Amino acid sequence: MIPINDLSRGYNIYRDEYEEMAVEVLRSGWYVLGKQVTEFEKEYAEALGGGCYCAGVDNGLDAILLGVKAAGIEPGDEVIVQANGYIATMLGVMQAGGVPVFVEPDEYYQLDAANIEAAITPKTKAVLVTHLYGLATRMKPVMEICRKHGLMLFEDCAQSHFAPYKGTYTGLFGTVSFFSFYPTKNFGGFGDGGGVVSKDQAIVERVKVLRNYGSDYRYHNIAMGYNDRLDELQAGLLRVKLRHIKDLLANRDHIAQRYLKEIKNPLVKLPETTEGCVHTWYQFVVRVEDQEGFRSFLSERDVATDIAWKTPPYLQPVMVEKFGYKRGDYPKTEAICDTIVSLPMMDYMEEEEIQKVIDEVNSYEG
Ligand SMILES: Cc1ncc(COP(=O)(O)O)c(C=O)c1O
Repeated sequence: MIPINDLSRGYNIYRDEYEEMAVEVLRSGWYVLGKQVTEFEKEYAEALGGGCYCAGVDNGLDAILLGVKAAGIEPGDEVIVQANGYIATMLGVMQAGGVPVFVEPDEYYQLDAANIEAAITPKTKAVLVTHLYGLATRMKPVMEICRKHGLMLFEDCAQSHFAPYKGTYTGLFGTVSFFSFYPTKNFGGFGDGGGVVSKDQAIVERVKVLRNYGSDYRYHNIAMGYNDRLDELQAGLLRVKLRHIKDLLANRDHIAQRYLKEIKNPLVKLPETTEGCVHTWYQFVVRVEDQEGFRSFLSERDVATDIAWKTPPYLQPVMVEKFGYKRGDYPKTEAICDTIVSLPMMDYMEEEEIQKVIDEVNSYEG
């Protein structure tokens, strides 16, 4: 079976470096919030292009929670999000007391700026874009609307590390941005991890206080904080991966370019890349009318697939119970969820594996 992903492949490419770092951290005698985290925060901010700051946290969900709190979201504030986003984004906003307000995405699966203004109310405080599948959102119109209405702009970059829009990486367009370093992510570690990035140093400093029991210095607590710290081992391993991320993204691009050139099946719609963007292929998402039929066909031929995700966040039971959403509320999103299929995509694939995926997809007749 060709897996949808195999995390050991990326690890194996740089195994010696990872193991050297793991031993260094284990022998250091310092395991939480130390030199590795501090260095990682500096190096990550620089790798994104500089002029910004980073706070390492324990995962992507808490990056959202702490980031939106540090930016000033308060109970009852509305935050506009895309209806086909990930539930963790909404949970982060809701745990900070905010209320997610949904809008439909564009044909590239990203938040469609054309739908924002109709969703603005007196309670709206921010727009939160999630750059889905490794592709940046078209930011210019989103930024213009935020400026016009005095709204904060948040970016969920859990799926878009080093994905540029007009030459700038995602995470640097708004007030604050959130990263997940969950192992499956393009820039993922070997356990949970996350980061908050902002050009506003005060926001990042507030996140650093919130992640550590609300403490600004030892045994001095100024806020209702959390324990949301990044550990030294993850930070050290992420520093190793950061040295190689460009090569890992190039591997993904090689796989994607072969899929794009060689998959020729009128029943399978290939992903498109927005002008001004470079896709980083967190997921290679095709559209097929008979989603389940296509998946079974490939599965019977030893090609694994996935759907990210079948149920949109507003139709998850927890959201239906809280807000009363129902099927039909966001038809464009539902049409996406009913037809998307992710093909195998990972840090490394053998040419024969790529060929097999292409051949099997091309032999699908519906
Ligand atoms: C878009 C998006 N936001 C947030 C998250 C949450 O990140 P984490 O799993 O690190 O909490 C994820 C990943 O799972 C994600 O894909």
